[in-house]
Amino acid sequence: MTASFTPVSRLKAEGLKAGYGERTVLDGVDFSVPEGRLTALLGPNGSGKSTLLKTLARTIVPSFGKVLLDGVDIHRHSTRDVARNLGLLPQGPEAPEGLTVRELVSLGRSPYQSFWRQNSREDETAVTEAMERTDVAQFADRSVDALSGGQRQRCWIALVLAQQTDIILLDEPTTYLDLRVQVGLLELLSSLAHDSGRTLLVVLHDLNLAAAYADELVMMRDGQILHRGTPDEVFTPSNLNQVFGLDANVIRDAESSTLVCVPRRYSSRAGEERSWGV
Ligand SMILES: Nc1ncnc2c1ncn2[C@@H]1O[C@H](COP(=O)(O)OP(=O)(O)OP(=O)(O)O)[C@@H](O)[C@H]1O
Ligand SMILES: [Mg+2]
Repeated sequence: MTASFTPVSRLKAEGLKAGYGERTVLDGVDFSVPEGRLTALLGPNGSGKSTLLKTLARTIVPSFGKVLLDGVDIHRHSTRDVARNLGLLPQGPEAPEGLTVRELVSLGRSPYQSFWRQNSREDETAVTEAMERTDVAQFADRSVDALSGGQRQRCWIALVLAQQTDIILLDEPTTYLDLRVQVGLLELLSSLAHDSGRTLLVVLHDLNLAAAYADELVMMRDGQILHRGTPDEVFTPSNLNQVFGLDANVIRDAESSTLVCVPRRYSSRAGEERSWGV
């Protein structure tokens, strides 16, 4: 019998308490980011997904607990060291005015550059490859400001890919993308994990795409992780109800055998008022 090998997680949160000033958002979060996998972070608006990603990426300093990168507190690593190992696409990033697509994507190479070592051939190759994989090479010399929302979002993803980190954290990367492009992006992320051994933690609001592509789902609510596991383990009507307050069926697509969530219409729920619940 062969023993299954679970690689040690390079990025971990231990007893994390973090937020903004007096406002605590994450309270006692323990989490190891699964190595070489595509993990989807799910949860309602305001549940703390972006706060967790920012804390894992060293943008927010926890008030208690710590984030460990390769066993060392992430705040003890240099900025350059973190940026060579971990790339973050924040939610709703804004590009400096007037930048071309190539210039924006090239920012992903800054962790490898210095005053005396600027654009190398390796940098050029990484930038070109990242633009090709996200299908923005055709816009390379256009200004980022002059692109559509979805085209711009793909440029940001290209920037993170050009950074060539083993760990990639993406906050709602599918925003603005049409469904075909969302599927293309998830195929790409899945192949980065499964063919190149990269570790991806991705915030998604599309539960069905998450269930179809992620190896593991992590469900957050009120700053805590309530469930984590494979889609088969945690993508259940009761968990969706507990985490999102969603009344939904979960069915299995006969052809792909992936799980699909079908929300019940308000009109079919006796006596219930239409409400966004926010
Ligand atoms: N800069 C900030 N200052 C103060 N509070 C903030 C700040 N950013 C977020 N919050 C609050 O922290 C909580 C968690 O926000 P967070 O952005 O992590 O949620 P989220 O799960 O990413 O939500 P969404 O799905 O809407 O992006 C929310 O109550 C939010 O109002
Ligand atoms: Mg968010």
